Amino acid sequence: MTGKNLEPLRWRNGVLEVIDQTLLPAKLAYVRLGDVGQVCAAIKTMKVRGAPLIGVVGAYGLVLSVKKVKTPDLAEAQTQLRKWADILIQTRPTGVNLRWAVERVFNASTEVGDVSSLKEVLLKEADAIFNGELEAARRIGKYGSALLEDGDTVLTHCNAGALATVGYGTSLAVVRAAVEQGKRISVISTETRPLLQGSRLTAFELAHDKIPVKVIVDSAAAQMMARGVVDKILVGADRILRTGHVTNKIGTLPIALSAKFYGVPFYVAAPVSTVDMVTDPSRVVIEERNQREVLYVAGRRVAPRSVEALNPAFDVTPPELVTGIVTDRGMAGPPFVESLRSLSG
Ligand code: MRU
Repeated sequence: MTGKNLEPLRWRNGVLEVIDQTLLPAKLAYVRLGDVGQVCAAIKTMKVRGAPLIGVVGAYGLVLSVKKVKTPDLAEAQTQLRKWADILIQTRPTGVNLRWAVERVFNASTEVGDVSSLKEVLLKEADAIFNGELEAARRIGKYGSALLEDGDTVLTHCNAGALATVGYGTSLAVVRAAVEQGKRISVISTETRPLLQGSRLTAFELAHDKIPVKVIVDSAAAQMMARGVVDKILVGADRILRTGHVTNKIGTLPIALSAKFYGVPFYVAAPVSTVDMVTDPSRVVIEERNQREVLYVAGRRVAPRSVEALNPAFDVTPPELVTGIVTDRGMAGPPFVESLRSLSG
């Protein structure tokens, strides 16, 4: 790997600094978030995105909400924190990491003796989540790299890289670790309409690390498999259910269906914090985003004025299409009900 590692998030002097991902690849710049309201807005507008990163940002967001607490009464302070925790969790409903991380920090607030120690205790918990997720990304890389052989071409969708985590990535962690072991790996990245996380972010961070990458339009994925140029598919996840259903960026499902047809292994890489052992597949909320993201390209309307758009941000890939799930605790294979239960236990 060359160049300085990307650091999507840093906590400096009581302020959260995040790379504004809406500016990439043109500009690599940090935006300062000193207030929980700013954190909510940054998540909603996708200045920060990617399930594990959203989780950690939400955790620090709850730390920042302590500034809004003006009461010396601990029970009242916890009620106020609960309100902010719920607001944070609702900013993006599909990924499970956000709820997981915010609840962890909120639970820490129930352990303190008085209001004056809230900030310190919550910050300690947010830092622990940050460090845990960074460590998880490294372990995903280690376990997953065994799947890749020298010379492989990997197709990925959206961005499940350093920029979607606190560093190193999930599916791109697997690629990075394999490259660090000396394997020659090249990547095909879908552009990922409508917000172009593939061409803007995945291509940016792989180019930054000098890992060969080519961008395709989303609809070219099946043709690449038909041509036989894709050895493995590697994607991230926003929520993996106990059944092995994988919720990920819209467009993942057609890639998985094509992979099954053409016999290409379809792998998912995600930390255990992305596994949701509770929710039923029928209850997963698929975020519906603003129609403008589809109807406009680079600020210019491309569809007739009279036409509306549908803009689901995620889809759900059934377990029958998933070859394996790389987690920070090792590989899970079918039947996922059993393998995920033992890994997340
Ligand atoms: O809408 P986004 O950009 O937040 O969606 C991101 C994805 O779908 C990623 O694949 C997923 O969060 C996994 S990131 C390690």
